[in-house]
Amino acid sequence: MPIPKLPIVILISGSGSNLQAIIDAAENNALPVEIRAVISNRPEAMGLQRASRAGLRTEVVDHTQYENRAAFDTALAACIDQFEPRLVVLAGFMRLLTDELVNRHLGRMMNIHPSLLPMFKGLNTHARALAAFHRGEITEHGASVHFVTPELDGGPVIIQARVPIETDDTPESLATRVLSVEHKIYPLAIRWFAEGRLRLQSNKVWLDDEPLAAPVQFAPEDN
Ligand code: GRF
Repeated sequence: MPIPKLPIVILISGSGSNLQAIIDAAENNALPVEIRAVISNRPEAMGLQRASRAGLRTEVVDHTQYENRAAFDTALAACIDQFEPRLVVLAGFMRLLTDELVNRHLGRMMNIHPSLLPMFKGLNTHARALAAFHRGEITEHGASVHFVTPELDGGPVIIQARVPIETDDTPESLATRVLSVEHKIYPLAIRWFAEGRLRLQSNKVWLDDEPLAAPVQFAPEDN
């Protein structure tokens, strides 16, 4: 029997290449989700065009139109709620969310972060990884998919993918290499959740009814 499709909404701020990877996986029947809406805080986000091209509903909740974070989050929460998603997917969504909004969706909100968490939380991860590489501290960089908790980029990590850092890398070349693995691990983590194999419980990730001792490490054959 086919698995019922999981209703999701996807929040973006920019290019939307992770959004595109999710759209493509859903269209290829590799991901049992129904994308009910794509919501952007930036009206000019390129990802909105990707969503429209795929025939998806788009919404803009422009943070510049709200007096403060709480007012923006109230509007964003109302926008999300009308679609009754079972999972909220942050895909390059560049606004901090209030604890209240995060807690409303605890265990039902995921994010992708361009580093091997807990290294390099926050912004400019590729430049910081490159600087650490040149100091001889690391040889690899990568990306992590995690459940969102009130601690910024601090929620339990589900899966990570590693990429080598090369001597002649720039932040841009490293970002490109990391993005290509992001596009593999995000649809995979969402698929596990849609299949009912993944949950957050007691601040731990559970996969197939076992708590993960460490994040799953992506191997291409997992794809
Ligand atoms: C990705 O690197 C993601 O990890 C980070 O923001 C970037 C978004 O890229 N949170 P895109 O909009 O999905 O192309």
